[in-house]
Amino acid sequence: MNQRIDSTYNDPFDPAALLKWYVEMGVDETIGCESIDRYALTAEMLAKRQASQAKPAGRPAQASAPAQPRAEVKATDEMVQLAVSMARKAETIEQLREAVLAFDGCPLKKTATNMVFADGNPKSDIMFIGEAPETEEDRQGSPFVGPAGQLLDKMLYSCGLADAVGDRSKVYLSNVLFWRPPGNRPPTLSEISVCLPFVERHIELVDPKMVVLLGGAAAKAVLGHHEGISRLRGRWFDHASPQLSRPVKATALFHPNYLLRSPSQKRRAWSDLLNMVEKLATL
Ligand code: URA
Repeated sequence: MNQRIDSTYNDPFDPAALLKWYVEMGVDETIGCESIDRYALTAEMLAKRQASQAKPAGRPAQASAPAQPRAEVKATDEMVQLAVSMARKAETIEQLREAVLAFDGCPLKKTATNMVFADGNPKSDIMFIGEAPETEEDRQGSPFVGPAGQLLDKMLYSCGLADAVGDRSKVYLSNVLFWRPPGNRPPTLSEISVCLPFVERHIELVDPKMVVLLGGAAAKAVLGHHEGISRLRGRWFDHASPQLSRPVKATALFHPNYLLRSPSQKRRAWSDLLNMVEKLATL
């Protein structure tokens, strides 16, 4: 690796130069305080494997019990219960934000820089729910401020839900996860499960006329359907919950990140947006 450090970074004891080099090489987060020598670990693993292979044949090895996954499921269940009870106690959106901030049951909290709760107008008729914060959202602590958010802002403006690109006074935005998964990877089921009680309570407290789920992960989590986004988009669902005075109209749209990757799908998204605005006017 040192061979790649050019003359700008030729002092190996200059921490600033080293950090600069890390950034230029694409490192965008640190997830541990102590460095791990993976070469040493690999050598250790190989040595252990060789030693176990060299053992004389004895009792056949028993199939090991899946202790870790079971423990994980139990931990997730407990955290879901905790999330339910903390979310239920919140009587206002601000109290809910504080509850999410105080919640330690989602492991993503440890690696994220900021908790990302919501943006826009909490009194809006329409609430958009995305998947998870990404790099820029994590940095700023606000949802949809990166490339996906920039496209979403343009979509909102083009369908009349914003007076200018970036105006969020007529909409409310949040996500199914409140912390960024490392490397912007997709959320796991257990991460979604522990955040979902807060999302459900969030919808109850905002009490919008319409909920719009952005992308398959958000749609599946909130609507509880197993179909993919291509089948869910453009359809109408009634989202009910005990604290809502009446079911809220819900629909799903392609996620802006997907539209950035597949611009040919923007035509479909545009038609979904127009239907959504038309329907909103009737509620
Ligand atoms: N930014 C968000 O806040 N949510 C997403 O789903 C994607 C980007």
